Amino acid sequence: MSVDSNIWVEKELDRICDVLKRNMIRYGTDFPSACATNSRYRIKKNDDWTNGFWTGMLWMAYLHTGDSCYKDLAMENVKSFGQRLKEHYVLDHHDIGFLYSPSVAAAWKVTGCQDLKDMIVEAADVLAGRFQPKGGFIQAWGKMGEEKEYRLIIDSLLNLPLLYTAAQITGNDRYREIAGVHYRNVVRCIVREDGSTYHTFYFDKATGEPAYGATHQGFCDKSCWARGQAWAIYGIPLHARVSGTALTEAEMETYARIVGYFEGHLPADGMPYWDLIFTDKDNQPRDSSALAIAACGMLETGNAQRAGEMLKTCRDMASSEAEPESEGILLHGVYAYGEGKGVDEPNLWGDFFYMEGLLRLLRRDWVPFL
Ligand code: GLY
Repeated sequence: MSVDSNIWVEKELDRICDVLKRNMIRYGTDFPSACATNSRYRIKKNDDWTNGFWTGMLWMAYLHTGDSCYKDLAMENVKSFGQRLKEHYVLDHHDIGFLYSPSVAAAWKVTGCQDLKDMIVEAADVLAGRFQPKGGFIQAWGKMGEEKEYRLIIDSLLNLPLLYTAAQITGNDRYREIAGVHYRNVVRCIVREDGSTYHTFYFDKATGEPAYGATHQGFCDKSCWARGQAWAIYGIPLHARVSGTALTEAEMETYARIVGYFEGHLPADGMPYWDLIFTDKDNQPRDSSALAIAACGMLETGNAQRAGEMLKTCRDMASSEAEPESEGILLHGVYAYGEGKGVDEPNLWGDFFYMEGLLRLLRRDWVPFL
């Protein structure tokens, strides 16, 4: 992308940092909720799977502006993540990577503070503790071993970098092994012949054999949840980078099918509906966060041209510049349509990955936090 075409990216990042600064005053050392209501986040404690995105945005704002106010608050947040770990507060799920990579691991990477390494490893231990050797996967949710919870989910790919960070810190290969086995089972089980994906996949508890795919946040078991597809588009090349293992030819072919399915199910304006089953005739909400995540996937594969186009679509159709009062950065996401949660609203991961994509476009040598 030429220097000229980076002007809008820089301007949008400046605007995002201003929005974050305004939000910081309102939230203090508390956290915004996972999704907004009428473009305003609720103020909460550090108690959801999404808190790391807020802290991660503060780190990115610090990198973009050099203003230490972002760093100071991010470091306050890090204390909260330490406390949460100590209390094991709402950590019985797989999203430990989403929580601790953009917050505490980012703090370690940005500041070089060696004291944080123990916390990173401790968080990775919580994630590794959810590994089910029978089946070979990290159990996403619920009580370990419960039959109705004996499954992995596609989102988990983005949690794996935390295990590789722990392997790097400790030199202990067990983290890598768990991540590698889980990753291979995600790719083996969750991708359908046509390149679409299941959101979740069950294993037989008695034998560990792959059983069946099912949705959780998509329209139905057979459809393709847009954000799930985007998690795969980013998660697969991300795993290649953090594990240091290039995609095999078979994986490259699978990956091309996944990207092709996503691209082939975008409406003409380029902004996905919340489930890829829908078309312009269905009058359904979009999920801008899926496009922002997919853009980061494109950057991960080195396709900055396509990433730039996707991020431009996010900017043109969903930038909160159009709503100056919005606390969200990227409008028009969907959290969980079936539960009526965050429909046509900003959400923290949409904000985070949009910002990450823009920062990566601007700084090609920057290694993102996940
Ligand atoms: N990881 C949960 C979601 O994407 O909604």
